[in-house]
Amino acid sequence: MKNSLDRLWWKEGIVYQIYPRSFQDTTGNGIGDLQGIIKRLDYIKSLGVTIIWLNPIYTSPNDDNGYDISDYRSIMSEFGTMDDFDQLLEGIKKRGLKLVMDLVVNHSSDEHQWFVESRKSRDNPFRDYYHWWPAEKGTPPKRWSYFDVEGNAWKYDEATDAYYLHYFSEKQPDLKWENPKLREEVYNAMRFWFDKGVDGFRMDVIPFISKDISYPVLPDEYEGNFVPFYANGPKLHEYLKEMNNEVLSKYDVMTVGEAPGITIENALDFVDEDRNELNMFFHFDLMSLDRDGDEVFMMRKGKWKLTEFKKIHTDWDTVFAEKGWGSMYLNNHDFPRSVSRWGDDSKTHWYNSATMLQTFLLTMRGTPYFYYGEEIGMTNIKFQNIGDYKDINTLNRYETLKNEGGNLEAFIENEKDASRDNARTPMQWDTTKNAGFSDEKPWIKVNANYAEGINVTSQENDRGSVLNYFRKMVQIRKDNLGLIYGSYELLVPDNEKVYAYTRTLEKEHYLILLSFSREREILKLEQFENQNAKLIISNDDAVSHVKDGVFKVRPYHAMVYSID
Ligand code: NOJ
Repeated sequence: MKNSLDRLWWKEGIVYQIYPRSFQDTTGNGIGDLQGIIKRLDYIKSLGVTIIWLNPIYTSPNDDNGYDISDYRSIMSEFGTMDDFDQLLEGIKKRGLKLVMDLVVNHSSDEHQWFVESRKSRDNPFRDYYHWWPAEKGTPPKRWSYFDVEGNAWKYDEATDAYYLHYFSEKQPDLKWENPKLREEVYNAMRFWFDKGVDGFRMDVIPFISKDISYPVLPDEYEGNFVPFYANGPKLHEYLKEMNNEVLSKYDVMTVGEAPGITIENALDFVDEDRNELNMFFHFDLMSLDRDGDEVFMMRKGKWKLTEFKKIHTDWDTVFAEKGWGSMYLNNHDFPRSVSRWGDDSKTHWYNSATMLQTFLLTMRGTPYFYYGEEIGMTNIKFQNIGDYKDINTLNRYETLKNEGGNLEAFIENEKDASRDNARTPMQWDTTKNAGFSDEKPWIKVNANYAEGINVTSQENDRGSVLNYFRKMVQIRKDNLGLIYGSYELLVPDNEKVYAYTRTLEKEHYLILLSFSREREILKLEQFENQNAKLIISNDDAVSHVKDGVFKVRPYHAMVYSID
């Protein structure tokens, strides 16, 4: 039987996620591109990370920045060509790194040839690649859409007098997995990339792929809380098993599902090794901690508690204690910057916050995922004007609210902390124009704080920078298997300032102390009295040997001790 101690490259890996549009422009169109990533490969290697995950780079009309794909086997022209891709992959392999791509197959673009055909006539051979509801049956039962101004996931299409389903924008029609021909198309596209040498996929909203195609009226309990309904389609596991059997099992690759709706109770159904489905997934429990219940985009700013934060991670660690494997992340292209959200990005606490959060991800069990710029402590941009926003999510919700006569000022205030665009501003490379991202006007504004030390070049030259702390901490994880595979135990669960835990693997024993507070704390941990706690790393002044079990913890302090 396999278990969570079996050594595997993706368990020991450290992922670096790149939003290509915002990483490095080399053509002067204000949009990042593949040559830009190639240019920065030595930098990425120097971080110590081992796996690169790219957000979608396929041909797309960009209604949702590449999450609306119109050809699964070609490269978005703004990003470059297939030759650029091959060169990129070669550069990645040459450096001993791995490449994970985004697989977006719950939906395609409405400009995909399949949909162009599908909407032409009811007897078109591609008709059944999508979900259609003939208008003579009346209005289809309500389905919610994330990016629809009216929140309606059914769009009426005149050409064939029918509605099609789109859980996301109306330019992102949902693919019909119930059709075996469609599934084979998806598997072939996956094989295409694997045969090129790609090392895995991050799978967009993968629990949504299976639907009850009788499209019943939403059962009462899902009214206003539709995600668990979307994530529990009747044939989900059948499809994942088939995908594994037909494709994944034939290659040495990793998979990580984006998994809204997955819970502690059903988690292992997806990643228990014996079930042969996925390797890992991203759950959303932390991402909803500071949100307002069902209103997933409304912040409860500053109202979350550290004890809840700890509980989420402790409960999830328990799930994977013997089977499966977890993934750890604090931000990505859909969520605000980690240091602004979980730390304090003010001048006083920014350095400690950014490095403390890095320490957290690198000392937990589960593969850590870092988002470009997290290694230098990039922060939320907090746009004041709706005109600065580019994200369909913010723009369409603004439209909805305007139509309802809602409070637009409050909306903008909320978006300063909630909007996905906070995480999509250009990478801050140096202090030259546009932070060295592009010679021309970037597609989205650059955060002005690149001029104040939040850029790679300034931090390269500073031994005490967030960037160089990151490198050190990455090395520590790689050097100590106990930090990867060791068991986890939570200490002082009720403390609202400090997150303390141990990691243990045979004779390796670590104590990790992380402050999530602006105040100091003195922690007495009796179990460490008369034991030799030796400091491995700290982001602030710390006693290097502790024997009395008393730890002085400063604001946003991070300390990792090895215990004899
Ligand atoms: C999740 C992706 O992460 C997000 O960016 C996208 O908008 C939706 N899925 C739709 O593909």
